[in-house]
Amino acid sequence: MNPVDAIDAGEGGDPAEAVAVAAEKRWGVVVSLIILMLLAMMVVTGLHWSGMPAAAVETVDPRTLHIAGEFVDSNLGTSLDADGRPVVRLIAQQYSFEPQCIVVPADMPVTFRATSTDALHGFVIGGSNANVMLVPGFVTSFTTTFATPGERLMPCHEFCGTGHEAMWAHVQVIPPKDFLAQASSAKRLSCVPR
Ligand code: CUA
Repeated sequence: MNPVDAIDAGEGGDPAEAVAVAAEKRWGVVVSLIILMLLAMMVVTGLHWSGMPAAAVETVDPRTLHIAGEFVDSNLGTSLDADGRPVVRLIAQQYSFEPQCIVVPADMPVTFRATSTDALHGFVIGGSNANVMLVPGFVTSFTTTFATPGERLMPCHEFCGTGHEAMWAHVQVIPPKDFLAQASSAKRLSCVPR
């Protein structure tokens, strides 16, 4: 029997047609329930997310970064905070990090505080778990420990424009003894050649 004859045979109360229609209806109900469940999931998760803002969001005005506040030029680089813990402050801009060379101690927790002046940037530091995004208007902050002294590369890892691939900084991890000696004689440390 060809398909057209099969459809014709269904007309006029063929029991096979009744079975097929019932199956179609059941399937329609199941599909409708699946769609309703997916819509409900979207609404519930959307409401949940909007009601739970991320913890500890710190904002900063990217238009006045260079003029006033924590990220002015003279405040960039590594320094010791009031409790004697090393803190690195840096900014990212198209297409460089400031400072270009960062000094940190090995074997001590180091806190990074960074932001972007223009586009979305980010960085990783080789041989460590440092891996962050830098978003204009927000301060990115994290603490990590470098296990061993050495030279590390710190490339930008968010595509930020035509100069993205040339955007990186150097990180010099030095023994804690040397770091504390340097930190006692200078307010801000960096290894940018003068
Ligand atoms: Cu900055 Cu890619």
